[in-house]
Amino acid sequence: MWNDNAQIVDTYVDHFGSGRGVVREELVDRHILEHLGDELDGRRIVDFGSGAGQQTIRFAERGCHVTLVEPSPLMMDRARARLAELPTEVGDRVTMVCATAQEAAAELPKASFDAVLSHGVLMYLDSPVPLVTIMVEAARPGGLVSVLTKSSEALAARAGFQGDFATALRAFEQAETTRGWLGVDTRGDSVAGLTDCLAGLGAERLAWHGVGVFSDHRDDLDGRSAAELATLVELEYRAGRIDPYRGIARLIHVLARRTA
Ligand SMILES: C[S@@+](CC[C@H](N)C(=O)[O-])C[C@H]1O[C@@H](n2cnc3c(N)ncnc32)[C@H](O)[C@@H]1O
Repeated sequence: MWNDNAQIVDTYVDHFGSGRGVVREELVDRHILEHLGDELDGRRIVDFGSGAGQQTIRFAERGCHVTLVEPSPLMMDRARARLAELPTEVGDRVTMVCATAQEAAAELPKASFDAVLSHGVLMYLDSPVPLVTIMVEAARPGGLVSVLTKSSEALAARAGFQGDFATALRAFEQAETTRGWLGVDTRGDSVAGLTDCLAGLGAERLAWHGVGVFSDHRDDLDGRSAAELATLVELEYRAGRIDPYRGIARLIHVLARRTA
């Protein structure tokens, strides 16, 4: 369950300026662009659980119309602060809905968005099904559905690579839930499970990627130069799309297309 308090929100938003945050943001952005195509002007995107809009406001900068759906007023304040630093026309392309995905879905048009995103949200929900259903329903036929969440299949990797071997070993005994770096318990999903869920709702998987293969467990990225981080992004991009590397990533990014 997401715990909305100022400390968690600040820690989370600051994370996006960190090395790990930059890698995640760049990778997810690239994956989405690969499926959205070159013509971005006027595309309609909705982001469920958008946080401070870190991932999505950049699409508004590229000419897309973006709807941020976010229940946390604290996160919304951070998104507004971010938009205030950008040209007015970018803000004019952003609609903010302060609500849960479930509440917003009742108001938003169905089958109309070119891309429906939800990144880092499923892990805080008891089951993926309600949110993935809302996502597929919001996408127009042919529209993109982009889900980023925690992998349930590599729970030992972070602690193991960090040298916390006891925690890593315990991860094999746990169900899907482990404590994330924000101190909040999070649940994992598998690529196969999400693929089945999407297929059952009328969306076929286009691709899946691992995110954080070489970076998730590292806390020494912040001092790295921009060139080193760019190399890391390239490395992660290559590794995140092939086995066996992507299978041990902390995060899985599943991209699907609504068929029906
Ligand atoms: C870890 S943040 C992820 C933010 C952003 N999507 C990103 O990729 O950085 C999780 C967000 O999910 C939001 N959230 C939690 N439950 C939600 C729900 N039922 N519907 C929509 N958003 C939700 C939280 O308020 C929080 O901002």
